[in-house]
Amino acid sequence: MDLKSQINLDALPKHIAVIMDGNGRWAKQHGKPRVFGHRNGVKSVREVTEAAAELGVQYVTLYAFSTENWNRPQLEVTALMTLLVETLRKEINTLNKNNIRLKAIGDLKKLPSKTYKALLEGIENTKNNSRMTLVLALNYSAKWDILQATRKLADAVAQQELNSESIDETVFSNALSTQGIPDPELMIRTSGEARISNFLLWQLAYAELYFSPIFWPEFRKANLYEAIIDFQRRERRFGKTSEQLIKS
Ligand code: FPP
Repeated sequence: MDLKSQINLDALPKHIAVIMDGNGRWAKQHGKPRVFGHRNGVKSVREVTEAAAELGVQYVTLYAFSTENWNRPQLEVTALMTLLVETLRKEINTLNKNNIRLKAIGDLKKLPSKTYKALLEGIENTKNNSRMTLVLALNYSAKWDILQATRKLADAVAQQELNSESIDETVFSNALSTQGIPDPELMIRTSGEARISNFLLWQLAYAELYFSPIFWPEFRKANLYEAIIDFQRRERRFGKTSEQLIKS
């Protein structure tokens, strides 16, 4: 039986988050500069987006640029930002054809103005699409997200618009940049690294974590299917015992 038909379409993760890792090492293996890895990584972005939409996954979040990534060599940062603008402009039609809505999370205003503009255009041009939402995490870090939510809530308390007693999980979730997006049920990280690296710390509280040894530029539809099949084999207990799950 092929991989795709082993997937139970009634038990798909609603939201898959991905840490796309290993571009640099893949490029090195091929004797090329790191940017070559990022360029080839775009192919994998396309494959994963298309495969997820075909299956019926509702949200895919891709960690495209972390707050920490500014510390990379200037040349690489500039190349990544240029690649983002190019890719956004090129792929908007494809997103529209496939009825996919683009969103972004992160400290977006601090992106170079060209990248920021291309991003806003992409979001605006796809805002009415409804089959799947592709969320790009850009200049994102989970600690930044938690801090900006805390500041927002503290301001609301100071303005007496909010009572601190009423801050519960729902109120806090709604102050995060992922407001309105269900928490990821599956988080995939490629390239054999087994860390969360400041990605969606609050939102990943109950996610299944899947670590693939494959470098991101080689990640294909079949690899996504494998991750989903693995996810569906796991028992998700949310703090309950196996016996409680059988009864409910
Ligand atoms: C991690 O590999 C990858 C990134 C920091 C950038 C990912 C960006 C893309 C795939 C291109 C643009 C994406 C979109 C969504 C249009 P790494 O450089 O950390 O690899 P290494 O760990 O081997 O050095």
